[in-house]
Amino acid sequence: MALIAILPGDGIGPEVTAEARRVLEALALDLAFEEAAVGGAAYHATGHPLPPATLDLARRADAILFGSVGDPSCDALERHLRPEQAILGLRKELTLFANLRPAKLFAGLEDASALRPEVARAIDLLIVRELNGDVYFGEKGMRTTPTGLRQGYDLMSYDEAEVRRIAVAGFEAARRRRGKLCSVDKANVLETSQLWRDVVVEVSADYDDVALSHMYVDNAAMQLVRNPGQFDVIVTGNLFGDILSDQASMCVGSIGLLPSASLDAEGKGLYEPIHGSAPDIAGQGKANPCAAILSAAMMLRHSLGLPEAADRVEAAVAAALVNHRTADLGGDCSTRTMGDAVLAAL
Ligand code: NAD
Ligand code: IPM
Ligand code: MN
Repeated sequence: MALIAILPGDGIGPEVTAEARRVLEALALDLAFEEAAVGGAAYHATGHPLPPATLDLARRADAILFGSVGDPSCDALERHLRPEQAILGLRKELTLFANLRPAKLFAGLEDASALRPEVARAIDLLIVRELNGDVYFGEKGMRTTPTGLRQGYDLMSYDEAEVRRIAVAGFEAARRRRGKLCSVDKANVLETSQLWRDVVVEVSADYDDVALSHMYVDNAAMQLVRNPGQFDVIVTGNLFGDILSDQASMCVGSIGLLPSASLDAEGKGLYEPIHGSAPDIAGQGKANPCAAILSAAMMLRHSLGLPEAADRVEAAVAAALVNHRTADLGGDCSTRTMGDAVLAAL
């Protein structure tokens, strides 16, 4: 029996995670669920956003279903106590360095995309985002300049081993898909990116079957709305991948649709929607649960070795979206009604 850690978190996290859990339960697989608090919810209960018991559960579990963290009432706390540190801590502690963020247009959702229908229809891409390095985890702080000004700093850095393992993840993903990999960086300005590009080129020697290209991140942001159909797999750093994936979400209709898998080298994974805790709609039953449900499908595929079950869940979401939409997609379904529609389609 596989143990699934459920970490609902804050805001809409518990609302969307509940629907994803219902879908997993409906599959009647040999799964056990154990839940723990994380983020602002854990801070309010224990004084820490990632309590030892939660981290311990995450380590013991075969896979983790994560909601979202972020709580406006915690914004003034010291950084190490803020809810967001919980997800950063899990990613780092469990060495979940490869973040897969697929974006594909569901049939019939052309009108929800921010792009023209014929442009949106061509979207079927995967962003492979590095998750353990970059400006997120470099030395950071506040100091005073010699002239007495306040100065904030965050060191951006990657070493070659960090770049190599995410490059390999990118090439492997491209090999399983349409054989195209676009590495996105800012090598015209940043040393971090020059190393990134050099190492990606080195790794490409082992992947003759994958067509590699390079693109600067500013151009990539533009190309993603001009002609997103040109992309198969995009491999990029932590910060660029964070930004480009939110952008990609609106190209296919809503941030409430994009799931993710955060994987270590052995296939252990944390699965979460790419969106946050959405304080503006939390507690109102308005959140789109599809990203969370699709994250559960990714769990079935990547951590539990159940690709047919994953296909079934993805097909059920696609079928449910034909006649059911939450407000972010222009509909009037509640979170629960949308979950019910997916369950019915299963
Ligand atoms: P957000 O993703 O929470 O929300 C952005 C906008 O998208 C909001 O208008 C929200 O209502 C909408 N939205 C998001 N998810 C939706 C869904 N499932 N259905 C319908 N609408 C949805 O981003 P934000 O507002 O910048 O951040 C809010 C908090 O979440 C912050 O504390 C931030 O740090 C945190 N955050 C956490 C994660 C995570 O847990 N991995 C990811 C992103 C942001
Ligand atoms: C995400 C979020 C996180 C990130 C924050 C909450 C730390 O935006 O998962 O995309 O920047 O990685
Ligand atoms: Mn983000």
